[in-house]
Amino acid sequence: MTRLGVNIDHVATLRQARAVKYPDPVVAAALVEMAGADGIVVHLREDRRHIQDRDLHILRETIKTKLNLEMAATPEMVKIALDTKPHMATLVPEKRRELTTEGGLNVRGNKGPLLKTIARLKDAGIAVSLFIDPDGHQIQISREVGADFVELHTGNYCDATTKDEEDREYKKILDAVGIAYDAGLSINAGHGLNYFNVRRIAEISKVEELSIGHSIVARAILVGLDRAVRDMIELIKGG
Ligand code: PXP
Repeated sequence: MTRLGVNIDHVATLRQARAVKYPDPVVAAALVEMAGADGIVVHLREDRRHIQDRDLHILRETIKTKLNLEMAATPEMVKIALDTKPHMATLVPEKRRELTTEGGLNVRGNKGPLLKTIARLKDAGIAVSLFIDPDGHQIQISREVGADFVELHTGNYCDATTKDEEDREYKKILDAVGIAYDAGLSINAGHGLNYFNVRRIAEISKVEELSIGHSIVARAILVGLDRAVRDMIELIKGG
């Protein structure tokens, strides 16, 4: 059964909009776990626009499922990861001005530094995932640099505006899953998934976990976090 990791960054976005103490992503994480999610995902960005260092430290202590830290492969973030030891680190590209992570990592162009970073994280007992586009070359190099997982970027599939385009993007994801599986990598997927487009991705049996944030937090504002998480789990199970 495909697992669900819930990204709670945007609970912190709402808090940071007023620079107050609520809503607290730590409280949200507990509710998400009680609703049945398999893990919590947070992205500690260089600019600290949502999740703060304090959140990460408390979450590391309080989470009962698994903590997946999304991070840029910078010296600052590697140090934080080695200090806090999340269960998994997902390496993502990060640009200051982007609204959200825009594309997958260029593993090909950063092979040397990634090899070293991944080895350091793995030596500390942290599983390493690379967020990449569904592209065969990036997958092969992800294996070469020692990643345990790849997280396949579903953004283009989610952004498709016609059925043909969606089918083409879906096919790219299916092909990438096959290549990653044959390369011995474990496979996660995410970005842009919502209650309307998640089914086809959840149907891909070799995808172990989906990382979903914005759509769940957005629905939570209207129906509550517990229901928003349970609705998503139901859809994933049905797939
Ligand atoms: N996976 C990665 C690597 C991401 O950067 C994000 C966004 O923080 C997500 C998944 C979740 O995307 P969304 O918020 O669109 O569900």
